[in-house]
Amino acid sequence: MREPRPPSLPWHTLARLGVLAAAATPLAWLLWAWHADHLGVLPEEALLHYLGRWGLYWLLATLALGPAFRLTGWTAFMVVRRPMGLWAFTYLSLHLLVWLGLEQAWLWDFIFEEISRMLHLQLGMISLLLLIPLVLTSVRRAQTLLGLHRWRWLHRLAYLSAAGGLWHFALVDRGDRPEVLASVTVLVGLVCFRLGDALITRMTQRRPG
Ligand code: HEM
Repeated sequence: MREPRPPSLPWHTLARLGVLAAAATPLAWLLWAWHADHLGVLPEEALLHYLGRWGLYWLLATLALGPAFRLTGWTAFMVVRRPMGLWAFTYLSLHLLVWLGLEQAWLWDFIFEEISRMLHLQLGMISLLLLIPLVLTSVRRAQTLLGLHRWRWLHRLAYLSAAGGLWHFALVDRGDRPEVLASVTVLVGLVCFRLGDALITRMTQRRPG
């Protein structure tokens, strides 16, 4: 069984284009700013930080699409879920690549040593790895092969990845910057919504008649 395919409407195309513009524009700006030397005295660090932050925000925004659809019934939210998730993964993969290539100069011995020493890097790696099965099964065919129930369970890994990413962010931050607290609040709110929604659905399904 697979999720019903929403009919393709003009505003679905618009929503997809909106996501493409919203995701590609900051990336293009970042590349330009890096190339034009507009990223300050430590450009590699600035790149790493921008990509990490935006990756996390895309991930949280992707997680918010399910509740947004449940509340409004607007199918465009579901249509943009896959592209937004893929953009989150793209940003976070680039974040990793910047660290590996620009910060660590691909020195693998050093890279492995750093990862084995630092909890925030381990959390970052695990959080990113958790997203890989989701990317690989993001095509509709994977839903058919896995079955909707298993597919949905697998895709809950995104919450775990966001939680790990936030923990990583909090450790890197070494303080209580408002962004960390705001992101934690968003994630907790989304998890509470999901749990409440599942509970209500179960209770209404059990009700006789
Ligand atoms: C889901 C995965 C990940 C998320 C959500 C994430 C997110 C973030 C965020 C939000 C920041 C802070 C940016 C800022 O201060 O402006 C950050 C910093 C950083 N991340 Fe990640 N990240 C992830 C994976 C990784 C991975 C795989 C690595 C490398 C192994 C990594 C290495 C770093 C480093 C080195 C920093 C900067 C640390 C510092 O300034 O001391 N991250 N990340």
